[in-house]
Amino acid sequence: MERRRGEKQLRSLNGYERTARGLIERFMTEELWRRPRYAWHRFWGDVNPFPRTMRQVWDFAAGDADYAAHMVNGSPDEATLQRTGTKMAERLITALAIEPDHCVLDLGPGVARVGREMAPHIRRWVGADVSRKMLDRAAERMRHLPNATFAHISGDGDLPFPDEIFDRAYAHLVFFHIDKQEMWASIREIARCLKPGGILYGDTWNLQNEDGWQRWLAEVEHYRGRRRPVHHNRWSTEAEMRTFAERAGLVTLACLHDSCWLQLIAARPFADGSLPTLGDLSTLPPPAGSWYYND
Ligand SMILES: C[S@@+](CC[C@H](N)C(=O)[O-])C[C@H]1O[C@@H](n2cnc3c(N)ncnc32)[C@H](O)[C@@H]1O
Repeated sequence: MERRRGEKQLRSLNGYERTARGLIERFMTEELWRRPRYAWHRFWGDVNPFPRTMRQVWDFAAGDADYAAHMVNGSPDEATLQRTGTKMAERLITALAIEPDHCVLDLGPGVARVGREMAPHIRRWVGADVSRKMLDRAAERMRHLPNATFAHISGDGDLPFPDEIFDRAYAHLVFFHIDKQEMWASIREIARCLKPGGILYGDTWNLQNEDGWQRWLAEVEHYRGRRRPVHHNRWSTEAEMRTFAERAGLVTLACLHDSCWLQLIAARPFADGSLPTLGDLSTLPPPAGSWYYND
């Protein structure tokens, strides 16, 4: 039977009952005493009368290595961070035709899961994130890579870089955490910082796909009658992503929409109006019914 409007949500997204018994069951099953920071974050997120800012959420998550890995893409350990980071770096290098002399921006790199694996293949890698503590973790994981630099940014979209310095820019698993206003401002700023012929990749949850829609419904239920944390998931549509890219002066080369992810690939035209050539996009979408990192 359909739940009545305003009725309290009784089950969490992970399938546990939202009762004292359910909490204890979850604590035991997930061995949360081994992950006290995560456990505390879940609990305090629900009861804290003063919600955290975006920066506080990610700084807190970066407080221990396991929790940081979990928050960036659900990785349980460093080995998984490296495995999934390598896969995504390879996908981006192939799809965006990233070359060894390129200067590449990673917006919202977190612990540099992707950046650590991308940097050895390019001239310069720049990570820009709202969380200084995530950047500290990224710097630690990339200390063997002298071509990596880090920028702490406000999160309102503004970027502290001159015009036309990046050949490529990507924002992976970032736009779905931020409001449309900041997503738009970030795309506009990236467009400014891309060289002519430069390419942007950005992804977010896809409202138009069945898997994406089911996830949307699950989250609507999950937060019914409760306060959403500042980094809660957001969704978009192809038309919206294309509009933002094109209003920022970019040309949409592709907007993949057949998976739970919307994946925008947009370019700044060269001075003569021509467009850069893309590589093979076929590995970019995650398999149906899944997202990348469950494999
Ligand atoms: C889910 S993590 C993804 C990290 C990384 N891209 C990856 O795939 O492993 C999201 C990251 O985006 C950062 N972030 C949140 N809002 C941001 C904003 N407005 N601009 C840039 N980074 C932001 C967070 O601090 C966090 O490091």
